Amino acid sequence: MRKFQSLRVGVFDSGIGGLTVLKELYRQLPSESILYFADSARLPYGIRSPEEILQYVREILVWMTKQDVKMIIMACNTSSALALDLVRTEFSIPILGVILPGAKAAVERGKRIGVLATSATVASNAYLNALLEIEPNIDVWQIPCPKLVPLIEQNRIHDPHTLEVVSQYLSPLLDRNIDTLIYGCTHYRHLAKVFREILPASISIVDPAQYVVLAAEREMKLLGIKNPSNPLPTRFCVSGDPEKFALLSRSWLGYTPVVENTSLPHIICQNNFGIENGL
Ligand code: DGL
Repeated sequence: MRKFQSLRVGVFDSGIGGLTVLKELYRQLPSESILYFADSARLPYGIRSPEEILQYVREILVWMTKQDVKMIIMACNTSSALALDLVRTEFSIPILGVILPGAKAAVERGKRIGVLATSATVASNAYLNALLEIEPNIDVWQIPCPKLVPLIEQNRIHDPHTLEVVSQYLSPLLDRNIDTLIYGCTHYRHLAKVFREILPASISIVDPAQYVVLAAEREMKLLGIKNPSNPLPTRFCVSGDPEKFALLSRSWLGYTPVVENTSLPHIICQNNFGIENGL
């Protein structure tokens, strides 16, 4: 058991979105050691096909499971929407996604729920299905927001154009009188100030990052793999430019991370259910 306690929690996203989950891990589970991976060479995921997303997730998981991790958190709604159910049947390590924890939290807050997410997440209807399965007597509206991740990754958080874009995406939800908004993409919390500027205070914002970490804690307790103390420094790995990632993440993290460049194993997929090599 001691061995598991000292292993890391693997966290991944396409880019800096998953840092919002990392921050929740620092806040709620400060004793855990973390491995953070950003597939920055291939972002944004939200405009990719379901097959591409599944392939990328498999490649990340194959690599991550070789890195001394005890649990993996998909800090990416797009990956959770398109790949979670399938990869859970392929890998023996516990894997958590953000959608179910986010949906459960949202139905406790309201009955008229708006979801902003990437185009791939919206097209999958993963939030719609999860929300209605938990509570059929609610209304749900989903809006694809393809412009937001590029703006955040270009560090244009304070750009007036970003405020305009967010207003446009929120406008149909405000017309529907939503009472609850889900950040259906982990990048969006980077724009929390912009959202709060536009949304009336009466609308609750649900950030699934907060709830996936609660779920991770429950699971770790259940499995007896919680680290009691002394975390290792977070290890950051990216598939793209390490310096760019370090620079972008600095203001959110409050320190400049040391970032490694990582090449992922290439996996040849036979079809959605079989993998020729890599596993
Ligand atoms: N942050 C991810 C999500 O939660 C991925 C966004 C993207 O790369 O398009 O969906």
